This record gives sequence, structure tokens and C-alpha cells, in this order.
Amino acid sequence: MGASLLGRDLLSSADLTRADYERVFATAAELKREFRENRRHAAQPLAARNVALIFEKQSLRTRVTFEAGLNQLGGHALYLGEGIGFGVRESVSDIAHNLDRWVDGVVIRTFDHSVVNELASEARIPVFNALTDDEHPFQALADLLALREHLGGLEGRVLTFVGDGNNVYNSLALAGATMGMEIRLAHPVGYGPQAMVVAAAKRLAVASGGKIVVGLDPRELAPGSDALYTDVWVSMGQEQQSRERVAAFAGYTVDTALLNRAGPLAVAMHCLPAHRGEEISAEVLDGDRSLALEQAENRLHVQKAFLVESIGR
Ligand code: CP
Ligand code: NVA
Repeated sequence: MGASLLGRDLLSSADLTRADYERVFATAAELKREFRENRRHAAQPLAARNVALIFEKQSLRTRVTFEAGLNQLGGHALYLGEGIGFGVRESVSDIAHNLDRWVDGVVIRTFDHSVVNELASEARIPVFNALTDDEHPFQALADLLALREHLGGLEGRVLTFVGDGNNVYNSLALAGATMGMEIRLAHPVGYGPQAMVVAAAKRLAVASGGKIVVGLDPRELAPGSDALYTDVWVSMGQEQQSRERVAAFAGYTVDTALLNRAGPLAVAMHCLPAHRGEEISAEVLDGDRSLALEQAENRLHVQKAFLVESIGR
């Protein structure tokens, strides 16, 4: 089933091969089945494992799923929050060299992606990216697992991201392209994706038989989509741009009309948190064609799976 993930970081969705994705999905499916049966696990593969959580941005899902997931498998989470003065009170490399001596892994949510790369290159223990300005790889893992469960497979399937060419889009484009999917993006002028990410995703798509499509008009790109995915128009760290962003994204709401245009069986996806009436209508987000809570649930299962594969074997 491909190379072991033992000792591996997860910094970018491009870090994983198709076999790696399949391995994480298989372990996640097993853990999910067991968890849904009795909300506990007989085996405790993370017993005596400690993982530090550095969060420089707000979080509900990511923090809770890493903490609960570690505890459910016998491990322990140390929430460091913003309290360590990351890169200010102490350099990133000094923090890495200290954490190395005490714990088995580091989860980090921060702004600048290069800081996560630096932490990973300085630390001997695995580093897990819990969201940067550029990527959200555990979100993409959870999303693709949810879509795979819903559709029965991913290859050749079409996911259209409506909105900002942001961190969540980047990770989905890289992960989806690795899995042979067609990933479309419909974005307003000025809010397109990074050229380097699109180029990397296109290279992955060539190898997998997938496709990357970028355009401006959601109504043009929706037809034939298995899923319409959206995310907030104002990401964490962009609060000062709120007014201009909300104006620029008018017309990019995933609503019932757009979902119907995608197709009668198309589903809606959202990483949450959501702003009903902005990027998604309440009717769609709360309706029976929404996978949002499946995605949120799967954060728990894919993260547990990755932790087991990386530090629990
Ligand atoms: N989707 C997601 O990462 O949620 P949080 O920001 O609440 O962790
Ligand atoms: N793009 C959003 C995702 C939140 C999970 C942000 O970065 O704030």
C-alpha cells in the first residue's frame, strides 16, 4: 500500500502520494468505524505519546479534533496556544530544538507558511500543519474522505471551488489533482490562486489523469460538478480587507440555484466556519445536500489516522 508514513511531517497536501492518501483513508475508515460503534478504541497506539499544539490563530474544529483524537488513542495534547511567544520570545529553531527533547510531534497553526517549513526542518520530530495562509492539508484529507464516502471514489470526479483562491483551495487542488480529480475554481478578478500552486497542481494532474481548471464565472463552471465547495471570503489575518472583499465576492454565493446548475445529485461542501448569506446560503449549508458536518467529523478520523501512521506505529 505504498511507503510507510512513519516519522513523516504533513506540511503541504503535495507531500502525500496517491498511495499515502489511500493509506490514510484506509486507517481513518477503520478508526471511524470503531469510533462510531462505541466511541472508544480498544487499541491505544498513541499511548505515552505527547504532541504540542501551537495555535497563533483561532480554531474550533482543528483544536478539538487534535486534542480529542490524541486522547482517544491514549496520547496527550499539550495546548500551547499563543502563550509561548512563537518566534518572538524565542526563535523558531530554539523552540524546535527544545520540543524535540520532550514530545513526539508538533501541530502548528500560524500565518506564514515558511515558518512551518522552518519548524519542520529544525525539528527532528514530525510537524503537522494545522493551517497556514497557504495551506490546510488536514482539511483536504477530511474533505476528500467525505467525498469518497459519498461518491464511492474520487478518480474522474469534479469538485468546483467557488470563491477565494485561498489556503483551503490550494490544499484541495493539490490533493484532488494527486487523486485524479478535476478541480475547478471560479473566483472574482483579483482573488485568483497563486500561479505556483496552480502549476504544481497541474503537474500532479498530468501524472494522475486529473485536471485543473481556473475561471471567473461560477455559473459557467458549475455544470457537471459532483460538489460545489466554498469557504469564507475573509480568511483569518485578512480582517482589514473585509469591506472590499465582501463587495468583490458578491455573486459568488453557493445557493440552491447554483447547486441545481451543478446537477441534481451535486453536493455542497464547506470547511466551516461559515457565514450564511455570504459564501453559502443557509438553505444549502443546512440542507440535506450539504456534506459540511461529514467533513467536520472526518477531521477527527483523518488526523487520528495520520498521527497513528506517523508517530503511533
Ligand atoms: N475548518 C477548520 O479548520 O476549522 P477551525 O478553524 O475551527 O479549526
Ligand atoms: N480560509 C479560512 C479557513 C478557515 C478554516 C481561513 O484561513 O481563515
